[in-house]
Amino acid sequence: MSQSFIKTGVIGHPIAHSKSPLIHNYWIKEHGLSGEYKTVDIAPDCLNEGVAELMDQGYAGFNVTVPHKIAIMDLCDELSPIAQEIGAVNTVTIKDGKLYGTNTDSYGFAQNIKESAKDWHFEDGKAVVLGAGGAANAIVYALLEENVPQIIITNRSRDKAEALRTMNTDKIKVVDWEDRNSTFQDSNLIVNTTALGMSGKPTLEVDISNAPKSALVTDIVYAPLMTDLLSSANALGMQTITGIGMLLHQARPGFELWNGVLPDVTEDLETIVLK
Ligand code: ATR
Repeated sequence: MSQSFIKTGVIGHPIAHSKSPLIHNYWIKEHGLSGEYKTVDIAPDCLNEGVAELMDQGYAGFNVTVPHKIAIMDLCDELSPIAQEIGAVNTVTIKDGKLYGTNTDSYGFAQNIKESAKDWHFEDGKAVVLGAGGAANAIVYALLEENVPQIIITNRSRDKAEALRTMNTDKIKVVDWEDRNSTFQDSNLIVNTTALGMSGKPTLEVDISNAPKSALVTDIVYAPLMTDLLSSANALGMQTITGIGMLLHQARPGFELWNGVLPDVTEDLETIVLK
């Protein structure tokens, strides 16, 4: 029986440096599937035409990255409850000429932690979220889903943190960015959702020395893999999780939707993606 060729990809602008083709094409090969995952550069004002072309070409679906994660929502015929709650789409499935949008970033964040820190539990205490941009949205959603009892959001622009707080005003508290070092005491989780600490960006200036040793520290930045935040947490004896796992895990549900197999994140894949 001949297997149909499954076309998938990622749309964005710029897109050339995306790691997603490495991840998906690795899984396509690993599972002996017939298909290819490509980068598709679509400029902000060409989104409609760009997506129409992918539909004409018979794509099964695509990932969505900057700057289209919010704009794509208007083109979708259906949005998952998660995409609606997070307010962004990163995964689109095309079926019978219709676009179904969802968001797998919160899954990627939570799954990475669950698989990397089996003895640590979300519900055991307070989480501190540094930043309130697009990535923070999905992460705060995940923290609420995982029953974190209290969430502190601290962001340079307080209004964005206040906007995120509307997801659950009972559990979420906003603290001024200037006072961020006071939030770590009694924390169970510290997560950097800003791009600070990434190669070429300013450093993330925080002092987490008052956090308990039992706190788990993670970062969405994965270049460098060992950010200053993670290094200082390690030096203080805290458990850390690097940002690469979130990128790998968020790719899994999309791959399953398009190819019918939920792939695994392995050390081999991580090594290939980090090369
Ligand atoms: P993303 O969608 O990837 O999260 P973003 O929406 O641009 O990107 O958010 C970037 C985050 O990094 C925001 O929380 C931003 O703070 P503001 O909301 O005040 O812009 C934060 N950020 C970026 N540069 C910063 C800096 N120099 N100091 C403190 N926070 C910074």
